[in-house]
Amino acid sequence: MENLKQILKKRILNFGPLSISDFILEANLNSRFGYYNNNLPFGKKGDYITSPEISQMFGELLALWAIDYWKKIGESKKFNIIELGPGSGILMLDFLRVIKLYPKFIEKCNQIFLFEISPFLKKIQKKNLSKVENKILKKIKWIKNLNDIPEIPFVLIANEFFDALPIKQIQLTEIGWRERMLNYNEDKKSFFISYSKNPTILENFLPKNKKYRKIGSIYEIPFNMISFLENLFNKIKKTKSTCLIIDYAKNKKFENSLKSIKNQKIINPLKKIGNSDISTHVNFDLIKKTSTKFNLNSHGPVNQRQFLIELGILYRAKTLIKNANSKQRKKIKKGLDFLINKEKMGKIFNVISISNKKVNNLIGF
Ligand SMILES: C[S@@+](CC[C@H](N)C(=O)[O-])C[C@H]1O[C@@H](n2cnc3c(N)ncnc32)[C@H](O)[C@@H]1O
Repeated sequence: MENLKQILKKRILNFGPLSISDFILEANLNSRFGYYNNNLPFGKKGDYITSPEISQMFGELLALWAIDYWKKIGESKKFNIIELGPGSGILMLDFLRVIKLYPKFIEKCNQIFLFEISPFLKKIQKKNLSKVENKILKKIKWIKNLNDIPEIPFVLIANEFFDALPIKQIQLTEIGWRERMLNYNEDKKSFFISYSKNPTILENFLPKNKKYRKIGSIYEIPFNMISFLENLFNKIKKTKSTCLIIDYAKNKKFENSLKSIKNQKIINPLKKIGNSDISTHVNFDLIKKTSTKFNLNSHGPVNQRQFLIELGILYRAKTLIKNANSKQRKKIKKGLDFLINKEKMGKIFNVISISNKKVNNLIGF
C-alpha cells in the first residue's frame, strides 16, 4: 500500500528535493496521510499534550480574558469569537462553559468560528462540542479560510496554531546561504537534508547582524505565518478587533527549531513522517514587528506563567481543589505545575495580544 513516505520519495526522485515548507505541509496535512488527518495527537495517550488538554483552567481563563477585553473596549454590540486550530475542541468547550455565565456576552456574540483545515479533527471537534447547549451550539461555524468571517469586531484565540504552519530554512554553507531541502537516498533508503544548488532570494530575509554568520548557522523564515498575520492584522485594523496568540517561543535568532514529537518524545523529524507531529518555534518579535506595519497595539510578549498567574490561575486552582477528591486534587496540582512551572510550559510558551485599540491595564500583561 502506498504511504506518505513513498509519495514523498517518488516526488523527490522525479522532481528533485522538496523545500522544508512543502515537507511540513505534506507531513502534517496531506489529505490522505497527513498527521492531522489521521491521528488524534492530543491528550494523555496522544503524542503530545497541549495546555487545554492538561487542564480545564486554561480555556476557562482565556474566556475570562476575552470577557475582560470586551468590557474594556466598551462591550461591542455585535462581535464574533474565532479560534484557530481548535485541536480536539476542548479549549472551546472550557471557554464556552465560562462565557455561559455571562449572558450579556453570549447574547452579543454573533458567531463562534472554528478555523480548521483537517476534516478528521473537525469531526472530533464537532463530537466534543455537541455537548454544548443548543443556544450556543447554533452559533458555532467551521471555516477553512479567514476571509469567510464577516467584517464585524472579533476576539481571536490561537493556542499552538502558528507552530504547525510551514516555514522555510536557509543555512550558511561554504559556498554561501542555501535553502535546506528534503532529499532521498536510494541506497540508504532514507530521507536526508540537502541544499539548493544556487543562492536563494530567501537570503534577503536575514537580519543585518553579521556576528551570527557562522558556517552551519540556520535561519528560519516563517513565510506562511507572515502572510497569515498580514491578512489577520488587516482584518483587526478594519474591524477594531483583537487576537491572543500563545505558542512555543523561539528564543534564538539562528537555530534549527524543526522538531517532531511522537509518544511525548522529540524525535528526528525525518523519521515517522506523517505519523508524528512536526512543528517549529514561533518568532514573537516578528509577530510584533508585523503588527506595527498595520499601526496596531501590542501587549506582550510575556511568558505563559506570568499571563496565567495574572489571570488568576492560582485562585482558580484553589477553588477547584476545594471541591475535589484526592485523585482529582493531584491532577489539578499536576496540571497547574505543568502550565506555569518555569521548567515546563511556564517559560517556553509566550503570549502576545495584538489589537486595534489601546487598552490600558489589559489583564495578563
Ligand atoms: C498543535 S494543534 C493545536 C491544538 C489546539 N489549539 C490545542 O491547544 O490543543 C494545531 C491545530 O491547527 C490545525 N492546523 C494546522 N495547520 C493548519 C493550517 N494550515 N490551517 C488550518 N488549521 C491548521 C490542526 O489541524 C490543529 O487543529
